[in-house]
Amino acid sequence: MHVGILTGGGDCPGLNAVIRAVTLALINECGARVSGIERGFLGLLERRSRPLDADTVAGLVAEGGTILGTHNRCDPFRYFGANNADCSAQAMAYVRELGLDALVVIGGDGTMAIAYRFMALGLPMVGVPKTIDNDLFGTDRTFGFDSAVAVVSESLDRLGTTARSHGRVMVLETMGRYAGWIALEGGLAGSADVILLPELPFSVDAVAARCREREARGLATLVCIAEGAAAAGGHLTVERTISDSPEPIRLGGVGRWLQAQLEPLVQSEVRTTLLGHLQRGGSPTAYDRVLATRFGVHAAHLVRDGRFGEMVALQGDACTSLSITEVAGRTRKVPVDHALVQAARATGVSLGQP
Ligand code: F6P
Repeated sequence: MHVGILTGGGDCPGLNAVIRAVTLALINECGARVSGIERGFLGLLERRSRPLDADTVAGLVAEGGTILGTHNRCDPFRYFGANNADCSAQAMAYVRELGLDALVVIGGDGTMAIAYRFMALGLPMVGVPKTIDNDLFGTDRTFGFDSAVAVVSESLDRLGTTARSHGRVMVLETMGRYAGWIALEGGLAGSADVILLPELPFSVDAVAARCREREARGLATLVCIAEGAAAAGGHLTVERTISDSPEPIRLGGVGRWLQAQLEPLVQSEVRTTLLGHLQRGGSPTAYDRVLATRFGVHAAHLVRDGRFGEMVALQGDACTSLSITEVAGRTRKVPVDHALVQAARATGVSLGQP
């Protein structure tokens, strides 16, 4: 059996740990040959691949990014490099030339949807979900999320010491797209005084009131705001639009917007930090290394058992799988009555509600 692996979409900590686990489990338990496809689906068009074995994946469990490279704009069914032409036949020709019996695809919902279309062309595939946003439907956790939360938590710790020294309001903007998981968990872990989520449109007046109340007590304020958060009746803050991307909108900038709104309403100086891609880079946490390893081994077992068209998932503490058709195009937001939202309220965190 010859199995290909590719990583698609944005990178995240833990991708290399999955590549390593899939490769080792396929070699050790199935006697398979494994090849890495480079730069996501682009590698199938540009005929770029390399053999993977125990030596080439050694030491990868702790390494951030992806050794295979990735691409978040290449859809062979609508290839931008060829005026949106359908280049899937070209990709399949390379698959046949390599002699691939199956493809393990590590990516988000967009990557899964593309991979699923290759099934119809005769390429069996298995999916492994990844994103720092933790917003994929059907899995309670994605690897990369815990690492991003750790960065947010540490950043708030650091902002806290300087905020308290100067009596400032510090705004920290996190990633997360349209879901607030990173801001919520990171904000709780870093002891933010205000946490603002896309799922709960906020009131600037309520945030300012919390800052003033803390000022009156001689306290600084830490605000953790998700990039997808917006004031009630307001709109999303878009940083840029990438027209040839399957998902063209890039969010960013709501932290600075909030700073400008708060400045006339509070006495303290207000400063903003945009964490950006620091949340995606670097070494995965121990939790993410283990989750990525479990996901990789489970994916190899799905290949071994011929269970194609399925995506690995974590439900509770169990590694399981579900049909990719169930997850395609669906995301998972923070329920407004989620236990962590309740924990935030119970511990006096403002969620920006009037
Ligand atoms: O989906 C992961 C993510 O990091 C989001 O949190 C963020 O909005 C987006 O990707 C940024 O994408 P890019 O790296 O293409 O700017």
